Amino acid sequence: MIITVPGDKSVTQRALIFAAIAEGPSRLRGLLPGADPVSTADALKALGAEVPALAVQEGETVVRGRGLRGLSAPDGPLDLGNSGTGARLLVGVLAGQPLRAVITGDASLSRRPMARVTRPLSRMGARFRFLLDEDRLPLEIQGGALRPLTYELPVASAQVKSSLILAGVVGGVSVLLSEPGRSRDHSERMLAAMGAVVRSGRSGECWRVELRDPPGRLEPLDLVVPGDLSSAAFLIVLALLGGAGRELSVRGVGLNPTRTGMLPVLERMGARLVVEAEAEQAGEPVGTITARAGELRATEIGAADVVAAIDEIPILSVAAARAHGTTRITGAGELRHKETDRIRALALNLRAVGAEAEELPDGLEIQGGDHPLSGTVDSLGDHRIAMAFGVLGALPGNDIRVRGGETVDVSFPDFWTRLAQLSLP
Ligand code: S3P
Repeated sequence: MIITVPGDKSVTQRALIFAAIAEGPSRLRGLLPGADPVSTADALKALGAEVPALAVQEGETVVRGRGLRGLSAPDGPLDLGNSGTGARLLVGVLAGQPLRAVITGDASLSRRPMARVTRPLSRMGARFRFLLDEDRLPLEIQGGALRPLTYELPVASAQVKSSLILAGVVGGVSVLLSEPGRSRDHSERMLAAMGAVVRSGRSGECWRVELRDPPGRLEPLDLVVPGDLSSAAFLIVLALLGGAGRELSVRGVGLNPTRTGMLPVLERMGARLVVEAEAEQAGEPVGTITARAGELRATEIGAADVVAAIDEIPILSVAAARAHGTTRITGAGELRHKETDRIRALALNLRAVGAEAEELPDGLEIQGGDHPLSGTVDSLGDHRIAMAFGVLGALPGNDIRVRGGETVDVSFPDFWTRLAQLSLP
């Protein structure tokens, strides 16, 4: 069977935010109409950008940008819901706007660290106040004129990197960054399409990203958002584990090399995958991935794998629970700061359905097996935990109920329908 998946969440979020500060109308197609992009679009509207309701799949959305520093003060707090990318990137944009704004979020987002962006942005001259707890939303921002920044990110993070580069773009100042690993580069690619030059490259053990000459304006975008590999990953693993017939192809899916870290991991596990690259769409590589059902074996997943597979660890853990042998995942401490503490959520939920899994400080040890798994798990408000256990439950012989499954709306609104269709006996 050949399927497509909804638009990439990271690219959709960026397209909306970048279009809002471009000069003139941007034409965006294939946007993800999920809860996270809707929160971001609502926040941008409250800041004066013209953003219509997000069009589904083939439809076109035209966003009328306000220019680099043309956003207006919002009437009330900007509620970014569950969206870490929306919140952190907007903090960077607002740091360079001469206005005051407050950012809030849901319970999950309000537990996630924000000082990772406010600390370097304060060095650029923006002022911040955490209104309840240090390092957590709600956050008051007083933006204005900014100074250049040279900064080493303590952890590889595309959200932090993008936030700081955006501050440089709106503030018209240089931003020179280095990060300990190469995080996803959608912002760099999109800015290039808008006429801004962001240079990046290896520098010893680190990855350098530099905005040396901030542009005077951003050209509007004209782009098609690729399908989200992070959403496709759930259905690909379903197919590999025999839950979707003999073969499944996902076409039109993003193959940006900073995102495809799960593919070599699955290949080491013996997965039968074929990846066919097609033409680039607006600077993003796109293609088709075909997965064939077969036996999987355990592997070691280390820090070098994790950066480009950061959002796929939940579904790779499910694959590990159905593989031969013991899989050890390390170097994944960042998972503790996602929509929930994913290390804990995976260990607890795997054990709740009868699989063997141990928490490590920075990862997991998972004992694979093929005995039937059954029980109830909790999504803990995390879309990727819900979908990972949805896949595990859809495999022949397993019987798993996912509490809080509606959270899939964040990134893959029709996940449960698609899963039910694919896993029909
Ligand atoms: C994202 C970056 C990653 C990822 C998140 C989306 C982005 O987070 O986990 O789902 O769109 O930039 P970090 O940058 O915090 O690692």
